[in-house]
Amino acid sequence: MALPSKVRIVEVGPRDGLQNEPQAVPTATKVELIHRLAAAGLKTIEATAFVSPRWVPQMKDAAEVFAAIEKQPDVSYPVLTPNLQGFEAALAAGAKEVAIFGAASETFSQKNINCSIAESLDRFRPVVEAAKAADIKVRGYVSCVLGCPYQGEIAPLAVAEVAHALFEMGCYEISLGDTIGAGTPEKTKAMLEAVTRRVPLKKIAGHFHDTWGMAIANIYAALEVGVSVFDSSVAGLGGCPYAAGASGNVATEDVVWLLRGLGIDCGVDLNKLVDAGAWISGELGREPASRVARAILAKRAAA
Ligand code: HMG
Ligand code: MG
Repeated sequence: MALPSKVRIVEVGPRDGLQNEPQAVPTATKVELIHRLAAAGLKTIEATAFVSPRWVPQMKDAAEVFAAIEKQPDVSYPVLTPNLQGFEAALAAGAKEVAIFGAASETFSQKNINCSIAESLDRFRPVVEAAKAADIKVRGYVSCVLGCPYQGEIAPLAVAEVAHALFEMGCYEISLGDTIGAGTPEKTKAMLEAVTRRVPLKKIAGHFHDTWGMAIANIYAALEVGVSVFDSSVAGLGGCPYAAGASGNVATEDVVWLLRGLGIDCGVDLNKLVDAGAWISGELGREPASRVARAILAKRAAA
C-alpha cells in the first residue's frame, strides 16, 4: 500500500511523558509546555489525566493545568478519564475530548486501572454515553498490544477484541499502545492485520514506546499498512507508572524527521518543536532523549 500523504500527530508528552516523572513538575511548567507545543504546530495535545492522585500523583493538578491552558481554537486538548468520576471532573474543567484506556492484557488492566478487561469495558460504557450526551469526543486506548510487562506475549486477536469493543462503544479512534516498546515491525504488521479485520484502518492510531529502540521502525511498518495517526512525546519524555522499565514514547522530533524524509505532511515546525523539547528537558534537568533533537542542537551549537 502507498504510504499516507498526511499524518496526524497526537502529542502525548504533557500526559504520557510527565505522568511518570519522579520529580515534582510545577503546574506552570506543564502549561507552558502545552503552549510551546501548540506554537510548534501540534493540533492534538493530550494535556493531562483525570485519574486517581493516589495512583498517579504527577497528574493531581489536572484541573489546574486544564484551566490554565490558553486554548487555541484549532487545537484539541484531550484528557484521560478512566471512569465516570474522572469524566465528570474533566467535563467540569471544560474538556471537549476525553480518552478511555483499556488493555489487551488482564494483568496489566488490574495493575493499571484495578479491574479486569471486562470490568473496564463496563466502566467505560457509561463514560462514553455521558460523553455522547455532552457532545464530547472519546478516544480509546488499548495497552500492551505488542507485549505485557507481566504476561509477556499478547495474541493479536486479544488486541483486536478490545479494540473492537471500544470502537463499537463509540470511540472515534483507537490508539494501539506498545506500552513496553517490545514490538518489532513484523509483529506490528501482524497485530495491525488482526485489528483491521475488526476496526477500520482509518480509525486506528499507533502509540509506540521506544524502550527497545524499535519505535521508528514500527511506525514505518504501520505507515506501510496505511496507519496515518501516531502518538508521540516531545523529547521522548515518559514511561508508564504501571509498566516498570518502560521508557518514553517515541520522540515527536524523531517522528517528524521520519515523515519529512518520506515527504509526508504533518504540519509541525521541527525547529520550534526541538526548542520546546530542549526547554522541557532543561526544566527536568536532562538532555532530550530524541536523537534527532540532539543532532539538530549539536549542529546549531557548531554553527
Ligand atoms: P480504584 O482505587 O479501584 O478506584 O482505582 P475506586 O473507584 O475504588 O476509588 C478509590 C478512590 O480513588 C476514591 O477516593 C475515589 O474518589 C478515587 P477515596 O474515597 O479513597 O479518597 N478516584 C478518583 N480520584 C480522581 N480521579 C478519578 C478517580 N476515580 C476514583 N478518576 C482508578 C481505579 C481507575 C481510579 C485508578 O486505578 C487510576 O486512577 N488509574 C489510573 C492509572 C493511570 O493513569 N495510568 C497511566 C495512564 S495509562 C498509560 O499510560 C498507557 C497509555 O499511554 C497507552 C500505552 O502506552 O499503552 C494510555
Ligand atoms: Mg503510553
